[in-house]
Amino acid sequence: MANKILVTGGTGYIGSHTVVELQESGFDVIIVDNLSNSKIEVLDNIEKITGTKPAFENFDLADKDKTDDFFKRNGGIDAIIHFAASKAVGESVEKPILYYRNNLVSMMNILECQIKYDVANIVFSSSCTVYGQPDVLPVTEQTPRKDAESPYGNTKRVNEDILNDTVAANPKLNAIALRYFNPVGAHPSALIGELPLGIPNNLVPFITQTAAGLRDELKVFGDNYNTPDGSAIRDYINVVDLAKAHVVAINRLLSGKNKTNYEVFNLGTGFGYSVLEMILGFEKATGVKLNYKIVDRRAGDIEKIWADTTYANEELGWKAEKGLEETLLTSWNWEKYVRGI
Ligand code: NAD
Ligand code: WQD
Repeated sequence: MANKILVTGGTGYIGSHTVVELQESGFDVIIVDNLSNSKIEVLDNIEKITGTKPAFENFDLADKDKTDDFFKRNGGIDAIIHFAASKAVGESVEKPILYYRNNLVSMMNILECQIKYDVANIVFSSSCTVYGQPDVLPVTEQTPRKDAESPYGNTKRVNEDILNDTVAANPKLNAIALRYFNPVGAHPSALIGELPLGIPNNLVPFITQTAAGLRDELKVFGDNYNTPDGSAIRDYINVVDLAKAHVVAINRLLSGKNKTNYEVFNLGTGFGYSVLEMILGFEKATGVKLNYKIVDRRAGDIEKIWADTTYANEELGWKAEKGLEETLLTSWNWEKYVRGI
């Protein structure tokens, strides 16, 4: 019988791509999502890609009674991938309690249910935001974490600690925290992708919306950083590559190949691209010219970061494979699909 995986936040951006990879690897998937940042139609599009509509329940994981009731009714879950969270950095500065409540309470509810209903394995969506601006690049898993720049970032740091402390106290539990760098791109079918509500904060959705004519111009936040072209550098990882790493992490837990019961992996490409290189890459990949201008730095931004992928490559046997231009073309194809262009 196929292993059953609970994917929280499974109609969201990274979750939906991971559901596709899980189904294509033979897993049975059940999604829980309250649709606070995603649409129910995602389920139909997952079905168009994989031929199977995943099971789905709509409720808020920060609601303890509903979460408990879900686990009571759904026996036989072998592992959880916990994506569900609020993720807008700026909004978290304005509404910190909302972020702490949603991200920390849902995590604690899930862990309590894991203990109560004997679900041994969990993979958690963490972020390279826990490293802040590192003193040494590239970033390894041993690079010290820094104080978070935002309440959102702090929820990732504290959730890592909650996870680590909980598995230490409950030896039957096993956890993997995956620290994503900057996920970008969309499924090659263009049927699922990132759906930002309102004006996007992230670079690639802003690029594609500018190219589609929804935004007049892209603002490049700063050209006076200590980088070769002066714009800030990030490690942009293709979302399908990222999704595949989750399947590897799940298989690792299910087959007991994890070395300790709390493991951490960086998920990036190992390469850093500047904002100006991203613009050029998009123009080259799509043939569409972008209207952009240089403006001041954005408050809270770091200068540069990219991952050392050695540990994830060797230990997981996983590697990001897709190139930047190929990835940016998928973002553009997705934007065109969404806008009906
Ligand atoms: P997303 O907003 O597209 O997906 C998150 C999903 O969780 C949404 O569908 C939302 O409706 C759901 N959700 C939120 N709170 C919920 C709750 N209390 N109960 C039930 N469902 C709830 O975000 P994403 O980009 O797919 O990110 C997934 C995870 O990866 C998040 O934990 C995020 O913090 C983390 N992450 C994202 C990035 C990034 O740049 N996208 C980088 C690093 C880490
Ligand atoms: C990338 C680069 C911007 C928009 C954020 C979160 C982080 C993580 C991923 C979850 C930066 C520049 C952007 C624009 C620009 N999320 N930029 N013009 O800031 O690296 O990370 O998302 O954990 O926690 O902080 O990603 O896509 O916002 O920006 O010049 O309109 O693009 O300054 O250098 P960031 P981003």
